[in-house]
Amino acid sequence: MDNHILNIIYLIASVLFVIGLKMLSHPETARKGNLWAALGMLLAIAGTIVLHHHTSLEPIKIILIIGGILIGTIIGAVAARKVKMTKMPEMVSLFNGMGGACAGLISLIEFSHLQEAATPPGMKTLFIIVSGLIIGSISFSGSMIAFAKLNGTLAQAIRLPNYNLINNIWLLLTVFAAGFIVFSGVTHVTFIYVVFLMALVYGIIFVVPIGGADMPVVISLLNSFTGVAAAFGGFLYHNQVMLTGGILVGSAGTLLTIVMCKAMNRPLFNVIFGAFGESHTKTGAGQTMVGTIKDISISDLAILMNYSKKVIIVPGYGLAVAQAQHVIHELELLLEERGVEVKYAIHPVAGRMPGHMNVLLAESNVSYDKLVEMEEINPEFASTDVVLVVGANDVVNPAAHNDPASPIYGMPILDVENAHHIIVNKRSMNAGYAGIENELFYNPKTSMLFGDAKVALTKLVAELKTM
Ligand code: TAP
Repeated sequence: MDNHILNIIYLIASVLFVIGLKMLSHPETARKGNLWAALGMLLAIAGTIVLHHHTSLEPIKIILIIGGILIGTIIGAVAARKVKMTKMPEMVSLFNGMGGACAGLISLIEFSHLQEAATPPGMKTLFIIVSGLIIGSISFSGSMIAFAKLNGTLAQAIRLPNYNLINNIWLLLTVFAAGFIVFSGVTHVTFIYVVFLMALVYGIIFVVPIGGADMPVVISLLNSFTGVAAAFGGFLYHNQVMLTGGILVGSAGTLLTIVMCKAMNRPLFNVIFGAFGESHTKTGAGQTMVGTIKDISISDLAILMNYSKKVIIVPGYGLAVAQAQHVIHELELLLEERGVEVKYAIHPVAGRMPGHMNVLLAESNVSYDKLVEMEEINPEFASTDVVLVVGANDVVNPAAHNDPASPIYGMPILDVENAHHIIVNKRSMNAGYAGIENELFYNPKTSMLFGDAKVALTKLVAELKTM
């Protein structure tokens, strides 16, 4: 009877995960979606503790479980409340690493139980155990390296000679060692610990060569690994909710990785098998820049914007660096008061993490319907008086269309050059993340507004207020 109730609870929890995930796809419903999914997880955990028929829970075990849940909940809640928006990728990588570690530990513990079993384990069980172990361990150690890189403890990209070859040989050796366990049926724990260590090492050497700013893609990939590792746990325990949760995380992570790769014009194969991040060490744009750079004063810009009908703001990584999201919202409101139509053009990889600009602007209460996706906004630039690019660079670089030698050639961009006036705010002529020059800055329609985004926009708002 208990088992039936538990299965129904698992079903409800799985449905809550799916509903939560669906709601996460829109900023307006995302917060609630998160809560629904968390409720699903709470149900699944509570149901398992109370109703699972194998559990002969002595009081000490109950205290340990509840103690663990409490400590985890407190650390998670405090960390999530305190973390700054710019530190979000670090937190995600840390949490993801913990998920991978859990999946790996499950495999280690279940393997050690095999020796006590009355019958030798089948190949299927061994396959599930070693798969969960390898994928979970890679996700754990890889995520820890990603975390260390993002918080600056570890150098950006350490590349030994032939690191691709070494990495791939190491991965093959790890798979061979795992294959030996599965096909020979050995149950001595030494073997599983060797595979465990090999997988941990692979996670490290897989992430170490990758440049720091590429880490969001890697984190998303590792996230999908954690999901798959958890799904193997679900197979092992015949636990539907663990399986569903794992598959949802695995597929969502994979899809996100694919979307990011596409938006950055990088094949997924390169991400997995090595060459990842290399193009960014080259400043290999084939074009030499022609034209002159001209700048614009705050007062001229204020006049230009004041008499515009339509302004599109293009936010980029620099907006997050300057923390100028509040002042940009103030500018938007001020212009709208004067009858100017204002929209924000959102590129899928503007910033340094998926949805970076959306969360940044949501923080300053910019209305969601003002944020327009790239495909939708691109046809609008031709009818736009002023496009204001704030701390964005690669996502508006026309080399993506014009220069086959450029590392970003083929990357979809915001077609800001079609607007009547282009204003670019950044601090210098330095390159963006891809390390390449931007011909947009030399366009006769472009004027540069040099300076930190927060400082420049604050002055612009003050000037507009005097008009
Ligand atoms: P970037 O191309 O990196 O350009 C950002 C610009 O902001 C820089 O040129 C910088 O110029 C300027 N900047 C920095 N601090 C500033 C400040 N305080 N005030 C004003 N400007 C400032 O950014 P983007 O256009 O957003 O493009 C994102 C890039 O990151 C893409 O190449 C993308 O592929 C990559 N990427 C994205 C993701 C995701 S998921 N979003 C993940 C990994 C990589 P100055 O130094 O001259 O000020």
